[in-house]
Amino acid sequence: MSVVEDPVLLRAEGLNVSFGGLEVLRRVSLEVRAGSVLGVIGPNGAGKTTLFNTICGFVRPDAGTITFGGQELSRPRPEQLTRHGIARTLQGLGLFAGLTVLDNVVAGATHRSRTGFVGALLASPWADRDERRLAARAREVLRELGIEGDANRICAGLPYGVRKRVALARALVSEPRLLMLDEPAAGLSASEVGELADIVRGLVPDTTVMLVEHHMDFVMNLCDRLVVLDFGEVIARGTPAQVRADPQVQRAYLGDPVAAVAGEGGANA
Ligand SMILES: Nc1ncnc2c1ncn2[C@@H]1O[C@H](COP(=O)(O)OP(=O)(O)O)[C@@H](O)[C@H]1O
Ligand SMILES: [Mg+2]
Repeated sequence: MSVVEDPVLLRAEGLNVSFGGLEVLRRVSLEVRAGSVLGVIGPNGAGKTTLFNTICGFVRPDAGTITFGGQELSRPRPEQLTRHGIARTLQGLGLFAGLTVLDNVVAGATHRSRTGFVGALLASPWADRDERRLAARAREVLRELGIEGDANRICAGLPYGVRKRVALARALVSEPRLLMLDEPAAGLSASEVGELADIVRGLVPDTTVMLVEHHMDFVMNLCDRLVVLDFGEVIARGTPAQVRADPQVQRAYLGDPVAAVAGEGGANA
């Protein structure tokens, strides 16, 4: 008898989150199918980042469950998250500005090292070799993202587009099963947004991707499925075409600069 793998990698059910009495997520349920790209969209303040933070264990939900690979995720600590196979980028950059590109990327992979920090401190026989293996893996990811030449530069002086790639490299170096990207295209030029779409497309199906983004062309062309949040509630879900045609979605976006969701190209093209 063959084992049928669950086609759903991550499942959130009935998530409620409130901050000081304000309900920020209300009964949010969603599924991320293995090997696909799920986009989470919605106006500013809709709760998208809070949803990511809840999945990653930074925020404790008042109610609801999250399962990953069929197992319940109960508030993983940050270093456990990568061990589970989940990596994320933060809205903005979240890099160590004073460190080199390579050191920033290596920092994202520490858990993969057999000996880790403790081993390095004790200078165990493994530590050197692990360190070298990690640096080699980090360089490989930098090469894949086309920024290997910047490996030894300090992050602070680099163009924003390069730093965004460093943040992506740092998440990728742990070889996550699920990659969560919070506004990966924010602040990028039109050509950089196109390149990012190609990079993300190249990651699936080996890596499953969940992303928040405001660039509607990017989202509509890249994502297999979308979930739309508005005031903390899921107001629509489905393929990009289904979501684009949804009257409630169009209403939620009315007057918002991303009203292009109403039609491909749309008035903003
Ligand atoms: N740590 C926090 N404490 C209090 N309120 C918060 C906190 N984080 C987010 N919020 C509020 O929760 C709502 C959703 O925020 P957020 O998840 O950042 O939305 P989005 O990412 O969709 O723009 C907003 O009203 C925001 O002000
Ligand atoms: Mg946000």
